Amino acid sequence: MSLSVKHLLGIKELTVNDIEQIFITADNFKGVLNRSIKKLPTLNHIAIANIFFENSTRTRISFELAEKRLGADVVNFSASGSSVSKGETLIDTVHNILAMKVDMVVMRHSASGAPWFLANHIDASIINAGDGANEHPTQALLDAYSMREKLGDLKGKRVTIIGDIMHSRVALSNIFCLNKLGAEVTVAGPPTLIPKHIESLGVRVEYNVKKALEWCDVANVLRIQLERQHKPLFSTLREYAQYYGVNKQMLDSLAKDIIIMHPGPINRGVELTSDVADSKQSIILDQVENGVAIRMAVVYLLSGSGKRDGIEKIG
Ligand code: CP
Repeated sequence: MSLSVKHLLGIKELTVNDIEQIFITADNFKGVLNRSIKKLPTLNHIAIANIFFENSTRTRISFELAEKRLGADVVNFSASGSSVSKGETLIDTVHNILAMKVDMVVMRHSASGAPWFLANHIDASIINAGDGANEHPTQALLDAYSMREKLGDLKGKRVTIIGDIMHSRVALSNIFCLNKLGAEVTVAGPPTLIPKHIESLGVRVEYNVKKALEWCDVANVLRIQLERQHKPLFSTLREYAQYYGVNKQMLDSLAKDIIIMHPGPINRGVELTSDVADSKQSIILDQVENGVAIRMAVVYLLSGSGKRDGIEKIG
């Protein structure tokens, strides 16, 4: 077992076989995570730095837990409180961390393309934990893995991605991943939050959220990213919730039970009402649970251990 890539920068660079290998490996690690003893010694020869230049709760904790469950030594770096505030550059920061014999870097950065830039300057493997509005590959992998767990093979399954598509790295990585796995994708939301020409990525566009929900098997509802909106793109959050938010009444009016997902953090009452977020149809916490197994699989495969050990050695 090994991937065709040295780094996990984006879903765009992965083959279908890479994605399937990650899922098979994650299945094995999910089994380990359901045991009473969840820790393996597999990566006890490796040190990993999680460097976060943007805030995170889920991704950061999930990577740290995944790395520790595999036995790796882990160091965490946040831009706030670091020497970045004294003017140190990204490259200098990372070279200094690598000088301490770190083997792998997990990075979140507000600048789109930052992980690709880093990959051109360092030897260690890099995992993109979200770069600006570009890609969030492990989120898309855990999303597709969670859909597959509920629906089986995703070929021909219908997924609607709703909300702030324009500023969402989750949307772009999901589109790449779902296209590769043969799912049909619609993006839905206000025209101001849907990029022009997005159909060229092989998706449908629907401005009526109710119609998009009627069409799909899964609705992946996204957060409104106010921090990336530099001018007003809709009147008020209340108006957004009224026209583009997903509520229980809407779900109850559909002829079928669709699956509800959200990458988090949720703006309750804006993109989703609480009774939808906490409903039986919601698999939001399954996504978070699966994130640890997916990130264990990515770290394990990029470390080269899959090639050396073979999948049967896991656990
Ligand atoms: N889904 C996600 O990336 O959440 P965080 O920003 O909390 O990591």
